[in-house]
Amino acid sequence: MTDVAERLEELRESGLHRRLRLVEGPQGARVTLDGRSVLLLCSNDYLGLAGHSRVREAAAEAALQWGAGAGASRLIAGNMQPHRALEERLAAFEGYDAALLFGSGYLANVGTIAALAGRGEVVFSDELNHASIIDGCRLSRAETFVYRHGDVEHLAWGLRRVGERATLIVSDGLFSMDGDVAPLAELLELARRHNSRLMVDEAHATGALGPGGRGSVAAAGLSGEVDVVMGTLGKALGSYGAYICANRELADYLLNTARSFIFSTALPPPTVAAALAGLKLLEAEPQRVERLTDNAATLRRTLAAEGLPVGDSQSQIVPVTVGNSERAMELCERALERGVFVQGIRPPTVPPGSSRLRFTVMATHGATELEEAARLVGAAARQLGVSHLTPLAA
Ligand SMILES: Cc1ncc(COP(=O)(O)O)c(C=O)c1O
Repeated sequence: MTDVAERLEELRESGLHRRLRLVEGPQGARVTLDGRSVLLLCSNDYLGLAGHSRVREAAAEAALQWGAGAGASRLIAGNMQPHRALEERLAAFEGYDAALLFGSGYLANVGTIAALAGRGEVVFSDELNHASIIDGCRLSRAETFVYRHGDVEHLAWGLRRVGERATLIVSDGLFSMDGDVAPLAELLELARRHNSRLMVDEAHATGALGPGGRGSVAAAGLSGEVDVVMGTLGKALGSYGAYICANRELADYLLNTARSFIFSTALPPPTVAAALAGLKLLEAEPQRVERLTDNAATLRRTLAAEGLPVGDSQSQIVPVTVGNSERAMELCERALERGVFVQGIRPPTVPPGSSRLRFTVMATHGATELEEAARLVGAAARQLGVSHLTPLAA
């Protein structure tokens, strides 16, 4: 039996123990955190839609019209008109025949990967893919070949080695902890050459990259060609839940085989209606995406000017790698004392030795707020002796 107290002590000693902070009020550029007002630089509400009046009203109206919960799984009695309306709109937005809603991005990834791969087959997964992709690979019982981050040569070598057992290549489109973009055209070419499918996780790319915020797949001109696109509703779209887009046959296959779809209650109607309102706002106001892009560039530039390394980020996700977990958390606390909330990220979310502050920018931040935040974090880093950072041992 696991000794819980001992395990917790180990986590504390290695700087990996986590605790919850409390946010009062809705998401926004500034929030009240544990009782004090701070600039929020670690929310995934990239476009500021979670607190938007139209999104809130849509949720409230749906609660009144449809109830607070769906009452059953989609395949029993939980499939309602809001689910269908959102799926149709998402499919059109992404340029696919069909979309299928899931309870969350985690559930979409584990359910889809486990449905598309099985014992005796091989899934190819980027080493920096999100934990839900890793868990989907494990659940599938297929063998997993983890290729070096973004390394298409390594992937090609692995595909050649396994021959006909290759079944699926899966990658984050925009990497959640590093903010860089996968080499999607090359991944698709390899998938086609090796008779495999390509699945791309757009959790952080929807609403942030590509034409009108259609994601990294659309940015690469591959809408409708990548076999499965997974997107989330809980980040830029301001609600909760997730979806996959695929051709009609594949979507029907997932509806019939993805266990996290079949054996889980349908998303609540207010959540679905809020996501639809968020999507409509994104379509009507693409300038939000432009503001996000501009803000991301401002933050990258001002952090770099402070001597803080921003890695290969090409997006609103900007990592400042510290290396050592305790030092990363100390920098997080020092920044917080100065009124800037940017969460420290440690293993197992990131590889050992690469603990970091992971900044995420929102379209609703002002440029001067971002400049000031970079200045404050730069000062905190210098005080701690972690400016001009070179990764330290974990
Ligand atoms: C790349 C990626 N995929 C999937 C997920 C899971 O999505 P959800 O939060 O909707 O479960 C996340 C969430 O952080 C993510 O970053």
